Amino acid sequence: MRKLVIPLLLLGLIFTGCSDKQITQREVSLKLPEEKSEWFKEAKFGMFIHWGLYSILEGSYNGHTMPDTSFANGNSWYAEWIKPRLEVPDDVYNALAGQFNPVNYDPDSWVREAKNAGMKYLVITSKHHDGFALWDSEVSDFDIMNTPYGKDLIAPLVEACKKYGLKYGFYYSHWQDWEDPDGALPRWCEWRDDEAFERYWQRKSLPQVQELIEKFDPDLLWFDTWDWKTHITPERRDELIRLVRTYSDKCLINGRICYENPGDNIDFLEMHDNSYPKEMLSKPWQTPATMQNSWAYHGKDYNWKPASRMLRYLVNNTSMGGNYLLNVGPKADGTLPAPAVRRLREMGAWLDVNGEAVFGSEPSGLAMPDGVYSTRKETSEGKNLYLFLTRPMASVTVPAVLSGECKVVETGQPVEMTVVEDETEITLPENLFKDDSIIVLKCRL
Ligand code: GLC
Repeated sequence: MRKLVIPLLLLGLIFTGCSDKQITQREVSLKLPEEKSEWFKEAKFGMFIHWGLYSILEGSYNGHTMPDTSFANGNSWYAEWIKPRLEVPDDVYNALAGQFNPVNYDPDSWVREAKNAGMKYLVITSKHHDGFALWDSEVSDFDIMNTPYGKDLIAPLVEACKKYGLKYGFYYSHWQDWEDPDGALPRWCEWRDDEAFERYWQRKSLPQVQELIEKFDPDLLWFDTWDWKTHITPERRDELIRLVRTYSDKCLINGRICYENPGDNIDFLEMHDNSYPKEMLSKPWQTPATMQNSWAYHGKDYNWKPASRMLRYLVNNTSMGGNYLLNVGPKADGTLPAPAVRRLREMGAWLDVNGEAVFGSEPSGLAMPDGVYSTRKETSEGKNLYLFLTRPMASVTVPAVLSGECKVVETGQPVEMTVVEDETEITLPENLFKDDSIIVLKCRL
């Protein structure tokens, strides 16, 4: 809802660089001290939430369901992209605001599901590429206040995160905005000339980011560009970083603020969707990942990943110092899809028993055979080495001399070890693999 016209005009001045504020801005360091990212490195597991007007359509429009190759750009499962991909006209799409009424929204239960799953932070799409804001925005009328629901969706979610001790952040589409007359469009559409984009940037993108920080004090901001040509030059990237640093001394920024050229001042790297690096990275990092093929809820996308596979991605990332940001796409009425909830609970049950090998751990740095991941942890009892066995095997050889006892975390079952020179061979009893979930061993280094 637009209320503050004068402050916005002032903002324009501030960020086009002709007011006293510039002095303040130059004094702000673009880099946050590294210790501010410590919580993120320790978090390991977070919940991503894609929710907006597109959730109403559930991946289908006018008798067509994504992916649909009868449209030039229809070959995608991503239901939040339905507008340009299934060519929904602007007025039809934007009128969905008149239907959005998530009467069953219960942010407390969302956050409880996240917490019970073992997740330590949550990131929600405050505004996706369609331009629609889930909060009461004074910058744009294309927001939740102009829906039958008419109440801010972000504020109570933030409250619930605080109540349950989760960090929280916002996905904000700073570059693409399909509703704003000057916002960037998909690459197969018109390319905004720089002057037009600059108008959007000053009028909507920067002011809304400032608004999000001032209203909600997020722990991180999740910007989105990938390897297309974008309008986000290094100057704009730094202008946005400067804005965030000016209004927050804690808010982390992801590398997708400018995927091709994130620079040195971002706080963590964002992998491509569902992609898992093969080597250690110099900065903190995470993989954003889907449970279905789509991010937003897609009623006909039955490609739900099993919890066991998602746990494997999680431990793969943990063993290389990265986080796993697992997405849930709520339905338009505000409920979480049953397949998502079941998977979250299964993952939480596994982590309840095996979480000591994930939380508070770091990569072991030891080369492991295929299908085995490892972490290490200093405890009051000594140095622990954890092995995650993701497939049946008769033995595993660890390139280190292990001492003391080695046992299965869940059951306490001891396993035999033989040290040969500088390696240890661990013999694995067959009965271990009657259970096809990941088996965790705890050994002493
Ligand atoms: C891509 C998609 C977007 C999704 C994001 C999540 O950038 O465009 O729809 O939000 O990935 O990682």
